[in-house]
Amino acid sequence: MINPHLIELNIKNNLSTCSFFDGVEYHSLLTSTSDRAKELAQSGAQQGTVVLAGTQTKGRGRLGRRFYSPEGNGVYMSIVLRPGEGQNDPGLITACGAVAVWEAIHQITGVKVDIKWVNDLYYRNKKLCGILAEGQFDSYGALSYVILGIGINMKRPEEGYAPEIDDKTIALSEINPGISVDYCSLCAKVIECFGRIYNELPNTGFLSVYRDYSCVLNQEITYEKEGVIHHAKAVAIDNKARLVVITAGGQEETLGSGEISLVRTVL
Ligand code: BTN
Repeated sequence: MINPHLIELNIKNNLSTCSFFDGVEYHSLLTSTSDRAKELAQSGAQQGTVVLAGTQTKGRGRLGRRFYSPEGNGVYMSIVLRPGEGQNDPGLITACGAVAVWEAIHQITGVKVDIKWVNDLYYRNKKLCGILAEGQFDSYGALSYVILGIGINMKRPEEGYAPEIDDKTIALSEINPGISVDYCSLCAKVIECFGRIYNELPNTGFLSVYRDYSCVLNQEITYEKEGVIHHAKAVAIDNKARLVVITAGGQEETLGSGEISLVRTVL
């Protein structure tokens, strides 16, 4: 039986010197950690407030998709952000999140996973982590807060993942079965890495990792724009973490968000 207070205490102890961190709530069950973080932000929670859950009944991903959150088998985390000058670009915040999780996994397991633009981490073409930034604007159009949601698969559930994603999903325990990753250490490392990278904005030095471990750069991709599927080659990631592509017609386009698919050639 998991004791929420022990989890909170363990994470606080791990982060005693982290200036970004402003407290953590662990719940065995929530609809979504991002719903709870939003409630906290609306009632004045500070930047660096973290919400964790053992499972989510309505975990959500981008484009209205569900994020499957099996009990006790993953990190389901949301962080309250109050972006200041130079930090209020949701695309860059998402990229900070991807690099923070990348670094945390690398520091704990030694494994270098792939970053799939814009917000997913993959290993051997299977999804390991998804990230979702949701912003709230005030009546003047300024960002009053952002909730950064991070979902990391730690262990494959005994019953498997949902049938439609089972063969496209991987968990940390499958990547390196010899290393058992501690839940609290992983949560704390993600928060610590994220806080450092985000606090350095508008310095975007972290994008070197985003580019170096991108599984999309120099690949043939497809993307959808205004209901039309376009074929292109991904050629660069700019300093706002946008993807620069050359379309099949030879045009350069810069994609700020959206879904891309890798075109895989079968030999
Ligand atoms: C995606 O894959 O499109 C993004 C997935 C984001 C999932 C995380 S889990 C914690 C937080 N709570 C949610 O409901 N979603 C995010």
